[in-house]
Amino acid sequence: MTDVPLRAHPARRLLQPVVDRIDRRIDRRLRAADRQIEALRQELRRTQEQLSERHSRPFSYDLLYGKDGRHNDRMPSREMFKKLSDEIAAVAGRPGAWTETAQAFRTLVEVESRGVGRIAGSTANILGKLTTTPLLGPPNGEILEIGTLYGLFAGGMVRQVVRRGLDYRLTIVDPIAPVQLQPGVEISRDPSGTPITEEVVRANLRYAGVDPERLRIQRGFSEDPSVREAVSDRRYGVIVVDGDHSREGVARDLGWVEEIAATGAIVVLDDYGDGRWPGVQEATDAHLEGRTRLKMVGRVSTSAFLRAG
Ligand SMILES: C[S@@+](CC[C@H](N)C(=O)[O-])C[C@H]1O[C@@H](n2cnc3c(N)ncnc32)[C@H](O)[C@@H]1O
Repeated sequence: MTDVPLRAHPARRLLQPVVDRIDRRIDRRLRAADRQIEALRQELRRTQEQLSERHSRPFSYDLLYGKDGRHNDRMPSREMFKKLSDEIAAVAGRPGAWTETAQAFRTLVEVESRGVGRIAGSTANILGKLTTTPLLGPPNGEILEIGTLYGLFAGGMVRQVVRRGLDYRLTIVDPIAPVQLQPGVEISRDPSGTPITEEVVRANLRYAGVDPERLRIQRGFSEDPSVREAVSDRRYGVIVVDGDHSREGVARDLGWVEEIAATGAIVVLDDYGDGRWPGVQEATDAHLEGRTRLKMVGRVSTSAFLRAG
């Protein structure tokens, strides 16, 4: 009897569905095994990262910069830092801003480490303001901060302006109330535990290295005509709007900014686009639609940067 090749064998047709079923089952098992291997790989990667973090970062580091020791951690990841410095570079019209963002990070850490209280906001937003403002080339070193809390951010901004070789003078407008004032928001106690007093603000500015001769603190609300009159004696090259975050409050501040901004001044709208303070963006966008000297330069993290014409 001659052999009938299996292909041609009638049994082949009978067996084919069984063979197909077995093939499909093998495929399914292989795919499931692939998925398990991938999950195990990911778990291994995570464990390696955790182990290397533990080994390369002692607990004391976390106490200084991490969630173990402070309200907002000051430990940007490489990815966050890269994304942020790219955003800054795009707004400042430069090929990159890694070095400048790293310098601002040192300013932030140093100012907060020496001072008491805290700088308000996320690390990304603070670095965005500290880095972008000087890179945009303000026309002079006259700085006005509306809303200072503990004064630490203003100290950092002075440092950053000095980095660009500008001769600074700092003016602060804030009621310096025992707790942060925000219309419609109850803030009974600051998470840092430090009381807000003029002595604390002055001490912080000293720790940050601000020359008392170049500092003036005007206590009161930015909408108060007597407060405005007291500090409207110059044209500011940098104005940080970070006081009353309500739509009406920001609109009022922007109206005043029109009068006191130097030509080419950089105006920083803190918390622009931050969902917790919708009034900041609403008021800014509405203001920019009307008759104004101010133009939007761009946005970094949750701050908008305007330039005065
Ligand atoms: C968000 S905090 C400022 C944070 C600070 N710039 C920083 O970066 O750490 C807002 C500050 O503005 C003050 N403030 C509220 N309403 C104000 C107003 N109408 N004029 C000036 N300051 C105001 C608050 O009491 C508080 O000290």
